[in-house]
Amino acid sequence: MSKITWKGGALLAPVPAVMVTCREGERNNVLTVAWTGILCSSPAKTYISLRPSRYSHELVAGSGMFVINLVPRRLAKTADWCGMKSGRDVDKLAECHLSVSPSPNLSCPMLDDSPVSIECRVSDRIALGSHEMFIGDILSVSVDDAFIDQGGKLRLDKADIVGFAHGSYYSLGSFLGNIGFSVGTRKTARRTAKRKKT
Ligand SMILES: Cc1cc2nc3c(=O)[nH]c(=O)nc-3n(C[C@H](O)[C@H](O)[C@H](O)COP(=O)(O)O)c2cc1C
Repeated sequence: MSKITWKGGALLAPVPAVMVTCREGERNNVLTVAWTGILCSSPAKTYISLRPSRYSHELVAGSGMFVINLVPRRLAKTADWCGMKSGRDVDKLAECHLSVSPSPNLSCPMLDDSPVSIECRVSDRIALGSHEMFIGDILSVSVDDAFIDQGGKLRLDKADIVGFAHGSYYSLGSFLGNIGFSVGTRKTARRTAKRKKT
């Protein structure tokens, strides 16, 4: 393999392309975010990095809350559109016929059509440059029970989640193995084989 070297840039792939819902007072909005991830397991912390120019930046900064909604394949086009239009100019939730429900603790809107909605309260803000990072405590995770299998396992492969890689969208619908499948303990191998059948 021979590699060419580019100057440092924001390239990591795949990353999730999520739809972040937010609310301040009577103003609800949704935007698409790729700069997100998990920061800590316990306490469970995540982040979103937003440009200060985003309408959503104003809402998240003002209310201290946001919800990260994972995007299933069938919402890919909607997610893209919500990442192209600003809530300053258009009511994206209404325009895309996206229904929402209040999140369990903060009453921030959650997308009903998302298989997993992650409710977050802002704990810290870090101005990094082009983007400001909002670190959030994960208060709750709401999961569509259609994606829970009989063993109680969340089957995100069935939800066909959208990922983003270097400017393009991909669906992450194919299951490769459970964590630890490389080590090949009997239990992991059994579970992996069982799941590949379903
Ligand atoms: C796939 C994708 C990923 C994006 N990721 C981010 C991001 O991480 N941070 C950000 O500030 N904007 C991101 N954007 C751009 C915003 O979603 C876009 O500017 C949106 O129109 C802002 O909406 P608002 O003004 O209603 O908040 C992304 C757009 C797309 C399509």
